[in-house]
Amino acid sequence: PTPVVVAIDGPSGTGKSSTSKGVAARLGMAYLDTGAQYRAITWWMLRQGIDPADTAAVAAAAEKPEIVSGTDPLAPTITVDGTDVSAPIRGAEVTGAVSAVSAVPEIRARITGLQRSIAEGAAASGPGIVVEGRDIGTTVLPDADLKIFLTAAPEVRAARRSGELGGPQDAARLAATRADLVRRDTADSSRTASPLARAGDAVELDTGDLTLEQVVERVVAMIEERR
Ligand code: C5P
Repeated sequence: PTPVVVAIDGPSGTGKSSTSKGVAARLGMAYLDTGAQYRAITWWMLRQGIDPADTAAVAAAAEKPEIVSGTDPLAPTITVDGTDVSAPIRGAEVTGAVSAVSAVPEIRARITGLQRSIAEGAAASGPGIVVEGRDIGTTVLPDADLKIFLTAAPEVRAARRSGELGGPQDAARLAATRADLVRRDTADSSRTASPLARAGDAVELDTGDLTLEQVVERVVAMIEERR
């Protein structure tokens, strides 16, 4: 089949990762989690003792760590200087710092370069790639063959994210998760460098009333129309 480059953007908790992996696995495509790359460089900054709020220090170190993303949707991996960081990048420490680090232009330039070279490699061979993030359709891959922007009400997103994190699902936990999501969305949408935004030519899909399977099904159908 013709290689297809698909950009899937949207705020946290809309089902971007599950949808992107599901679609890529179904169609034998590669998969790139760009949030994991920002989390990985944030993890490295914290390990170095660099304060995520110290923009100059973050910018000065932007080129230092080597970040390698695996693109198998069934077993995505990410390493920093050879260390597998798949687990620690999901922790509260990295989650709390990632929006500050990813707002730094030098960080975005570095990570965007990695993303474009991975997408070019995948588009040159095989059935293509699904790239998920916040600015893929607007900035990283403006010529993507298909752009999807996922949305869902904050309550729905908080319940999903809270379920993923495990532990007790009481009202206080849910409220805290919702507050954290809203804080991160606000930071990601209001930053100057390549904010979270829907591309003009993106298809918007509200996932609130759909199952994961239904969302995957719709995206697969849109890709098949473009082949
Ligand atoms: O998708 P995930 O929650 O793992 O993304 C973590 C953070 O990485 C986001 O909150 C955002 O600050 C940043 N990010 C970004 N641009 C992307 C993907 C993620 O700025 N393309």
